[in-house]
Amino acid sequence: MGFDAAIEVELSAAREILAGSHRVAAFSGAGLSAESGLATFRDPDTDALWSRFDPIELASAAGFEANPERVIDWYNWRRGKYAGVRPNAAHRALAAQARMIQMTQNVDHLLEQAGVPAQQVYHLHGSILRDRCNNPGCEHSATIDPAIPQTLRACPRCGDRMRPAVVWFGENLPQATWDRAQRLCMALDCLLVIGTSATVYPAAGLIELARQCDSRVIVIDPNPGAAADAADVYLAAPAAAVLPALLEGFDLASNP
Ligand code: OAD
Repeated sequence: MGFDAAIEVELSAAREILAGSHRVAAFSGAGLSAESGLATFRDPDTDALWSRFDPIELASAAGFEANPERVIDWYNWRRGKYAGVRPNAAHRALAAQARMIQMTQNVDHLLEQAGVPAQQVYHLHGSILRDRCNNPGCEHSATIDPAIPQTLRACPRCGDRMRPAVVWFGENLPQATWDRAQRLCMALDCLLVIGTSATVYPAAGLIELARQCDSRVIVIDPNPGAAADAADVYLAAPAAAVLPALLEGFDLASNP
């Protein structure tokens, strides 16, 4: 597939960076899964989730306390959407890079479905395919089948409420995953940033961290934003079109 001349120029520059890079990792957001049919949170061109729903009501501990049924219903609705989607060409292009670590803010598992080994996916914001006990001292968690809605239910271990195993506003990222992501970003030659508004911290800070540690940054996002501002090369195009073209012929495993 052909791109317009401006994108071709940026693609060449990005390929040149990759060709000289040994340590390459990806950092993705909701835009990576957009072409699979999952809504983003803050997309200017679409019915993004946070333009339709209040994140404090649906994605915070206070919202869950105030109305747990509504929160569970909303996650069940999102799980229902997830049950019908498949990885897109961008997920597959990333999965073809056998050794590439995938740091993602996405709570879906489309990277794993595309073939990325689970241990290579750093889920910074948790997983929509798990529930966990709301009591931090309990640590009980359970896998969820997205096709089978779960009603609000008690933890079988301690009797507190079960909740989605995702990171809500005001909560800490999973510490071990976050530590690994930061260490990785301090030792990269190139960070691929895909489909994120780069507005939610601390995750978005990984881009700055990588830059401070001398990594080059390639950003793929049809809409310019905070990530594009930090880019050495900015590819203003949808990920499913441009990522396969960027990574075609690149083999991280055999890079010098
Ligand atoms: P956002 O919705 O904030 O940003 C999505 C980005 O994807 C935007 O910059 C879009 O322009 C871009 N985009 C849209 N379609 C694309 C495509 N086909 N290819 C590439 N890019 C595309 O999503 P995140 O940055 O992931 O937190 O949001 C960060 C966090 O905010 C999420 O993890 C979530 C949310 O609140 C939690 O759930 C804890």
